[in-house]
Amino acid sequence: MGKVNEIKPDALIGQRYGQASFATLPAISPAIETLLSHRTVRAFTSAPLAEGTLELLVSAAQSAPSSSNLQVWSVVAIEDHERKARLAQLAGNQAHIHEAPLLLLFTVDLSRLKRIAENKQTPLAGIDYLDTLIMGFIDAALAAQNALVAAESLGLGTVYIGALRNKPEAVADELGLPAHVFPAFGLVVGHPDTQRPAAIKPRLPQRTVLHREQYSTGGEAEAIAKYDEILREFQRSQGLPAQDWSEQASNRLRGPESLNGRDQLSAALRRQGFVFQ
Ligand SMILES: Cc1cc2nc3c(=O)[nH]c(=O)nc-3n(C[C@H](O)[C@H](O)[C@H](O)COP(=O)(O)O)c2cc1C
Repeated sequence: MGKVNEIKPDALIGQRYGQASFATLPAISPAIETLLSHRTVRAFTSAPLAEGTLELLVSAAQSAPSSSNLQVWSVVAIEDHERKARLAQLAGNQAHIHEAPLLLLFTVDLSRLKRIAENKQTPLAGIDYLDTLIMGFIDAALAAQNALVAAESLGLGTVYIGALRNKPEAVADELGLPAHVFPAFGLVVGHPDTQRPAAIKPRLPQRTVLHREQYSTGGEAEAIAKYDEILREFQRSQGLPAQDWSEQASNRLRGPESLNGRDQLSAALRRQGFVFQ
């Protein structure tokens, strides 16, 4: 992580919110510059990753904090084109999955601790509680985000693939996941295609997510109306059909039919051996 230097955040913050947002900001570090510059990439070249990139990204992922250092996650690296194509199909035919050279499948992994307990013949009833499952998802997400930031800092592009939870049993079969290992999400990594560049997508105005001292919804409706406007403008600039964010977000969670199979997730978790009381 770089030292604080004279990088001025104003332009990047302006893009992050789609408007000038703060009167005064301190200078930022290269690490923050990488974070503020994030954009999901969905267009890749077929160029391979430099040797050792996978190991480097996994080292960055393993550098993330972990609840009680339990490290209840694992990652499956998929480079085989045919396997990527099959997984792409399971994730709603997302072409970027087989366009890019690497797909990382991050999993919640309680199986390692289970094997350790079996070998030591010690009880492990604590894995059957919801909190342990949540720890697995949190650990996996923190690890993955570290890998994402590391990749972006190297000039690589990434896209998360939550759609791999649409058909988790088929994903588990494809990757030979044992009981107590659950596919949380994928992360595609590759070289961005500069002919099809991605842009920084504005986020909600900070006052909707930042609450000082106590939670407050003051000014929320106006801020969201403003954001709807900003995002419509962003979509137009990207040649996409313009739609209010508030409408998109509500539609995404309208009902079980809009969850693309993920309404069956608790059943899928149970089939994979997870118990969460
Ligand atoms: C857990 C997670 C799952 C996601 N799944 C997908 C996906 O399946 N396909 C996709 O194209 N983008 C996916 N995304 C990317 C989001 O759509 C994207 O982050 C969001 O629109 C904001 O855009 P930005 O990342 O460019 O700022 C996912 C993001 C996250 C955090």
